[in-house]
Amino acid sequence: MVNTDARPLIDLRNVVKTYETGAGGVTVLKDINLKVRPGEFLSIVGPSGSGKSTLLNMITGIDRPTDGEVYVGDQAVHKMSENQLARWRGRNVGVIFQFFQLLPTLTILENTMLPMDFCNVYKRRERKDRAMRLLEQVHIAEHAHKLPSALSGGEQQRAAIARAMANDPPVIVADEPTGNLDTVTADGVFALFEQLVSEGKTIMVVTHDQSLSERMERVLHLLDGRIDRDQNNGHNGRQMSVESGYEHRLA
Ligand SMILES: Nc1ncnc2c1ncn2[C@@H]1O[C@H](COP(=O)(O)OP(=O)(O)OP(=O)(O)O)[C@@H](O)[C@H]1O
Ligand SMILES: [Mg+2]
Repeated sequence: MVNTDARPLIDLRNVVKTYETGAGGVTVLKDINLKVRPGEFLSIVGPSGSGKSTLLNMITGIDRPTDGEVYVGDQAVHKMSENQLARWRGRNVGVIFQFFQLLPTLTILENTMLPMDFCNVYKRRERKDRAMRLLEQVHIAEHAHKLPSALSGGEQQRAAIARAMANDPPVIVADEPTGNLDTVTADGVFALFEQLVSEGKTIMVVTHDQSLSERMERVLHLLDGRIDRDQNNGHNGRQMSVESGYEHRLA
């Protein structure tokens, strides 16, 4: 449940990202201000090149802002070193990509255990059981001992979600997680996200799929590096509405 009184879990303040190219600097995020509360399920939409992936990368610390501040929980993400970031991300942010990015020579079970081995949150002897439980949760436990190549796209994406959940992170970010899946399979992946949100996770998903983004509580429209519209769809009888000023258009 979204706690409207809660402090934001994700807080971007005046975030600017400029890439230096041969032809000079290109600013792809322009003064982004964004607050996401614990328990929100938010999608990011916008044309190709509008800055969606770059925005997610600011939150995961995969990339750094040129200016501005990024807070996730109590962490000032923009200030952390690469080493600190890797450790922090492993515990606090589950990242899911369009192309699954499972390691091809490890089984599904081993892939799922990998973040646990990296972060040492769970005791060594607990890890296999926990990984199996996660695979059960995403309904692919029977594939645990197969290599990724033996699974369908939807099954591989479910494995990637299980892996993202390995250390029980409060935040999950996904960049086009259904971009390579058929409609029915994409639907299943979204249902899984909805379940995780109902269990208290905070999820941000970049998607091109309008029918999926319409199911989201909150949709952030990016246009040319700016938040063009912050839309609340008011699902689940939530109190937030246009009248309450939750939705606003930015210049
Ligand atoms: N490392 C980089 N160096 C220079 N420019 C970059 C770099 N990474 C991204 N860009 C540019 O930044 C802009 C935003 O890219 P980004 O990947 O965030 O877009 P996107 O909204 O995710 O697009 P898509 O829907 O195609 O994935 C694009 O114009 C892209 O070319
Ligand atoms: Mg992208």
